[in-house]
Amino acid sequence: MRIQAPRGTRDLLPDELRIWHVVEERARELFRLHGYAEIRTPLLEATELFVRGIGEGTDLVSKEMYTFTDRGGRSLTLRPEGTASVVRAYLEHRLESGPQPVKVYYLGPMFRYERPQAGRYRQFHQLGAEVLGTQDPAADAETILIPYDLYQSLGLQGLDLRLNSIGCPNCRPRYREALLDYLRPRVERLCPSHQRNWEANPLRVLDCKSEACRAATAEAPETTAFLCEVCADHFAAVRRYLERLQVPYRVDSRLVRGLDYYTKTVFEITAESLGAQDAVAGGGRYDGLVQELGGPSVPAVGFASGLDRVILTLQRQGTDLGQARPPEVFVAAAGQGVQEAARILAFRLRRAGIAAATEYGDRSLKAQMKVAGRTGAQWVVVVGEAEWAQGQVVLREMATGAQQIVDAGQLIATLTRSREAATDGAPRR
Ligand code: HAM
Repeated sequence: MRIQAPRGTRDLLPDELRIWHVVEERARELFRLHGYAEIRTPLLEATELFVRGIGEGTDLVSKEMYTFTDRGGRSLTLRPEGTASVVRAYLEHRLESGPQPVKVYYLGPMFRYERPQAGRYRQFHQLGAEVLGTQDPAADAETILIPYDLYQSLGLQGLDLRLNSIGCPNCRPRYREALLDYLRPRVERLCPSHQRNWEANPLRVLDCKSEACRAATAEAPETTAFLCEVCADHFAAVRRYLERLQVPYRVDSRLVRGLDYYTKTVFEITAESLGAQDAVAGGGRYDGLVQELGGPSVPAVGFASGLDRVILTLQRQGTDLGQARPPEVFVAAAGQGVQEAARILAFRLRRAGIAAATEYGDRSLKAQMKVAGRTGAQWVVVVGEAEWAQGQVVLREMATGAQQIVDAGQLIATLTRSREAATDGAPRR
């Protein structure tokens, strides 16, 4: 039996990765424009980090973590998300004592033991950002605007941005009471698991995907009706930014998100054609998390976007992003005596920044010309024994078939000149 990739994981092959690179490069550029720098944290963390950070009662922590004991007896977990790790790194490196806010982004694999289906994997990739050290609603708006603008620039269709505010430790208890009062007479109508633990964290019931809980909470009290003045003002400011920046959104008073660390702003972005797994991004403010993880009181906000889902959506919507770029030149050897010379020439062209393909092995010139045609190279350089003896090669333009004899020493200059002539006037990419 052949060994296969573990269930819920997959290989990303070169053809597919071209579109990933387009998305990643666009994202890096957007982060640069907004003043974010990259951070890389380990794929493994102490299990405790996620239990304390994300919350023991969440599905993520109670059902979906890859946790194991290492050979030294420590409990480690493959990171299911990036926020808790960023906060740990922020505290570990005392970034709170430097200039604030700290604005970082990350890109990499996350692991969740979920039931795999299209758009849902056990190893998936997130692109995310965190802003630590500011309460300013402009930071909330920024973490919504970045994924929104990224998707717009990629041409992602059918975007739907849902926004809510779930308050802070001042106003949340009042909401929690109201929600408990609402749920009490409806407990029997909840899903089996929430019939048991609805009281421990009633907000989780609002986030439950089961039909039973959804129906039972259809008329639940709205979080926004219970906000204290500070939270209400903050929410109004976030909304003003989105409106003035023409980012369409709707307030969804049921949106509470599946992680316990959120305060105030929460949001999710979905895209058409993903079906049930349609959230391409989610995020919000988490003003209590730094303290929860042993640091001072530091307000923070961030988002993460599932790259696998963004790319799946683009593919389903028939994007033409990420076309392969052919080599500029194919170097062919006309005869065994010049094979090495042809390959050396290809190496020299590459060193000069010219993408050059050539053949391995021992193939006829005709076969090599066929390969050259398939690669889509604009030029073919034929190294013939007679010309080579004179220090010359034949340069053939594939589109027209026009040929010229060029001094080998002048080849790089000739190709560079023709490339410049071709791109003259065309917008640089
Ligand atoms: P999250 O909503 O759990 O938030 O995940 C963010 C995004 O990751 C989702 O919207 C989805 O696109 C993608 N995602 C999640 N699970 C899977 C999966 N199994 N397969 C494929 N894609 C998936 C967070 O992780 C928070 N850390 C976001 C955040 C950052 N909040 C504040 N800062």
